[in-house]
Amino acid sequence: MKRKPLPPMELHEDEANAAIVIKGLRNQFGQHVVHDNLDLVVRRGEILGVVGGSGSGKTVLLRSILGLQKPAAGDILLLGHRLNSENAEERRRIQARTGVLFQSGALYSTLSVAENIMAPMAEFTNLNPREMRAVAMLKLQLVGLPARAAELMPSELSGGMIKRAALARALALDAELLFLDEPTAGLDPISAAAFDTLIKDLASSLNLTVFMITHDLDSLYAICSEIAVLADKRVVEKAPVSQLEKSTHPWIHEYFNGPRGRVKA
Ligand SMILES: Nc1ncnc2c1ncn2[C@@H]1O[C@H](COP(=O)(O)OP(=O)(O)OP(=O)(O)O)[C@@H](O)[C@H]1O
Ligand SMILES: [Mg+2]
Repeated sequence: MKRKPLPPMELHEDEANAAIVIKGLRNQFGQHVVHDNLDLVVRRGEILGVVGGSGSGKTVLLRSILGLQKPAAGDILLLGHRLNSENAEERRRIQARTGVLFQSGALYSTLSVAENIMAPMAEFTNLNPREMRAVAMLKLQLVGLPARAAELMPSELSGGMIKRAALARALALDAELLFLDEPTAGLDPISAAAFDTLIKDLASSLNLTVFMITHDLDSLYAICSEIAVLADKRVVEKAPVSQLEKSTHPWIHEYFNGPRGRVKA
């Protein structure tokens, strides 16, 4: 069956080269509308922090961008490709250019660390097992894990090591676009700061665009170039943190000026 061609997506000049462009996104589960007319543009090379209350739809937004959640309406352009008009093969190619660290860390519990990192290679490349293992060892080094971690099972890792192993897997295919869902949740402040530094260093040395969902104010201040705030079912503001501190939006104001905020009275 031939699909009906979509009407053309109107793009401004800066949007045509962006890493992610979202227009008029709507997501709902039954009567529950999570996103309504949500717009967002993420430029290449940006380290974007995504914040919003629990249940505001951050993970659902991530899942829509990855094509794991079919939106009720709207358009998503990922690395110049319009997701809902591409065929399966093209979507796979786009998928291979993105890496994801899911909220739970989500390593395969029955596979060793090395096997976890090799899993995307087995799915998306023609590398033989010896080559895959060699690349996996390089990725381990990249994220600061010792070589001995390769043979450990996820249950034998500390929380910080799980995050690093999941990051190594997200970078297994030399992704251009890295998605992180609460990467520092559950880490002590020192490990969280080290993980932030790692992400910042990798982003600059590997030329990554980063989409990072976080509740961690320290991460926002330390590494994000801009912050997108999810509230009222859409992105209510996207700006550098210094600008958001002055926002009059009630949720944003409370976030930065509340008891756990950073803005000095
Ligand atoms: N598969 C699903 N079926 C039904 N409702 C869902 C589904 N996935 C998410 N939701 C609902 O969508 C809303 C947004 O969920 P989401 O996981 O995106 O929140 P979040 O902003 O990531 O929250 P948190 O900060 O707690 O991780 C929630 O009300 C959730 O119950
Ligand atoms: Mg979430």
